[in-house]
Amino acid sequence: MADTKRTAKLTIDGNDYELPIFSPTAGPDVLDIRKLYAQAGVFTYDPGFTSTASCDSTITYIDGGKGELWHRGYPIDQLAGKSHYLEVCFLLLYGYLPTADELEDFESLVTRHTMVHEQMINFFRGFRRDAHPMAIMVGVIGAMSAFYHDSTDISDPWQREVASIRLIAKLPTIAAMAYKYTIGQPFVYPRNDLDYASNFLRMCFAVPCEDYEVNPILARAMDRIFTLHADHEQNASTSTVRLASSSGANPFACIAAGVACLWGPAHGGANQACLEMLKEIGTVDRIPEYIARAKDKDDPFRLMGFGHRVYKNTDPRATVLKQSADEVLELLGVENNPLLQVAKELEKVALSDPYFVEKKLFPNVDFYSGIILEAMGFPTSMFTPIFALSRTVGWISQWKEMISDPQMKIGRPRQLYQGSTLRDYMDIEDR
Ligand code: CMC
Repeated sequence: MADTKRTAKLTIDGNDYELPIFSPTAGPDVLDIRKLYAQAGVFTYDPGFTSTASCDSTITYIDGGKGELWHRGYPIDQLAGKSHYLEVCFLLLYGYLPTADELEDFESLVTRHTMVHEQMINFFRGFRRDAHPMAIMVGVIGAMSAFYHDSTDISDPWQREVASIRLIAKLPTIAAMAYKYTIGQPFVYPRNDLDYASNFLRMCFAVPCEDYEVNPILARAMDRIFTLHADHEQNASTSTVRLASSSGANPFACIAAGVACLWGPAHGGANQACLEMLKEIGTVDRIPEYIARAKDKDDPFRLMGFGHRVYKNTDPRATVLKQSADEVLELLGVENNPLLQVAKELEKVALSDPYFVEKKLFPNVDFYSGIILEAMGFPTSMFTPIFALSRTVGWISQWKEMISDPQMKIGRPRQLYQGSTLRDYMDIEDR
């Protein structure tokens, strides 16, 4: 952490307290309040962590005002344009771009860990066929700690490394199995001659009775979706993973916690919610009705896939995916699909409507990823599992960074208590 001699002065009831100021390598200065309670006997109040840095990190940086996202200093548009998902995984995990040999070794390592323990198939069978794939993911990923005992000791760096590779390698297999299970088709085993994205497409869409050839344009679009979702600094699910692991829980349990958090419609569940909203709107002529609802203070309806907590200018991931969406729709010849017509028109209207412009509510990454995944043939219920498998590397990188930090402490926020003051228990006959 960059230490400076600068301090901020806080005055409470005439008493002054000096708060050290840290200067990050990029982004706003940070006030160090760690000793505030001990010195002044007060807590700070920040529900939603809108002004609170929960950790120091060297992995990902976001400038919400400028619409920038960097991984280890590299801007996301360069990574999405010139790199690919597994190289970005290496970068996130180890902090630098690999040499050709290092990349080959890493890809081979991940590829050779993609199969899951055969007994896990029985575990899948315990779920109802109509279970949401995210429900299956939360359960099966949590259950990995019961299958891979040799990589749950977080104090052993080697076991941490093995758990990391297992999670990155097996999440696509588990997500594809969750999908196959819910549609009643046999599981498709991974193949070591395919790259990460092609393997995932094949495990989702191949059937044993015919050959499946992966379209390279779709594989590239899939890889881009993975790359663009790989990490996003201290978002809700990443913070959940950090908080869960701060207690010393095993990595599989922590990643299951992250998946559970990601499921919510304000986070990773937004891509599913967005497509469901487009289906509900149905036709272009109904868009004004939904725009009016989104603006109505008394209506809880929000345009899903629009707005972001951090980006207040543009979502750089959405800029890249918009281009991918155009390519995929053209390739598949589905530009005239009514759902996609609604999406394009909604985008146009929202981008020009003063309410959305003034509040800086532009389409986010989930808006375009939903459109691409729908065009590729994924059901909406698979959108969030795809986000989850992409984000696994980010969760793991942040988890590894946290575990190896000597300052790591159990996460334990304080509260502003607003409940009853102390009172005596009343016997039931007196109430
Ligand atoms: N539609 C209509 N109005 C909106 C929307 C929306 N999608 N998003 C925010 N607003 C309004 C909101 O009503 C509020 O208005 P006012 O100031 O008059 O009260 C103002 O904009 C600020 O909203 P907020 O809820 O205070 O903003 P936030 O930073 O807490 O929320 C958000 C960010 C992403 C949760 C929110 O924009 C939202 O619910 N969007 C839809 C869900 C979505 O697409 N989520 C995916 C985010 S990207 C993927 C990820 O990183 O997980």
